[in-house]
Amino acid sequence: MKTVHLHQRPFQCLLTPTQIADRVRLLGQAISQDFAGRKPLMVGVLNGAFVFVADLVRQLTIQPEIAFVRYASYEGMQSTGKLQALLPLNEQVAGRDVILIEDIVDSGHTMQQLIALAQQEGAASVRVASLLLKPDALQVPLTVDYVGFEIENRFVVGYGLDYDGQGRELAGIYVLAE
Ligand code: IMP
Ligand code: MG
Repeated sequence: MKTVHLHQRPFQCLLTPTQIADRVRLLGQAISQDFAGRKPLMVGVLNGAFVFVADLVRQLTIQPEIAFVRYASYEGMQSTGKLQALLPLNEQVAGRDVILIEDIVDSGHTMQQLIALAQQEGAASVRVASLLLKPDALQVPLTVDYVGFEIENRFVVGYGLDYDGQGRELAGIYVLAE
């Protein structure tokens, strides 16, 4: 099994590019069906979601609007639960069908706050898509409507996800192997 090193720590392949692509295609089909005839506002959460958003929107048969937000909440390997808006959502949300797009839902704090924000701004509906979900790490009640893969509560990188700035370019998902 392929191993890569980031900051001198070994990571092993967990999900191959082919596995991810197959799953993302299905998520795109599901979203296209659920939002047929509508123009949802798809909001990617930077930085991690940039790869997933790019792949997901190219599997859609609907015509969404695409925007990004950026929050600082994660340092090293532990989630802090504190959110700081680095790039706020500028698009008009009132009356829109909003789909929030994450690379991974871990504690769920980030997504919980983004859902609340979209609702406060008057979104007609709010849905959540996340490539990865760590069910055992979830600390808040949260429904993730479109989940790529449920994974163990272990640290992962690749496909947009980083370990202190490294690993985002990897085409697969890799898990810390120590
Ligand atoms: P949450 O608020 O705890 O759900 O954290 C969500 C954010 O933490 C994600 O958008 C990621 O940026 C980051 N994160 C959570 N788990 C991991 C991981 O295993 N590897 C890399 N980043 C992670
Ligand atoms: Mg993220």
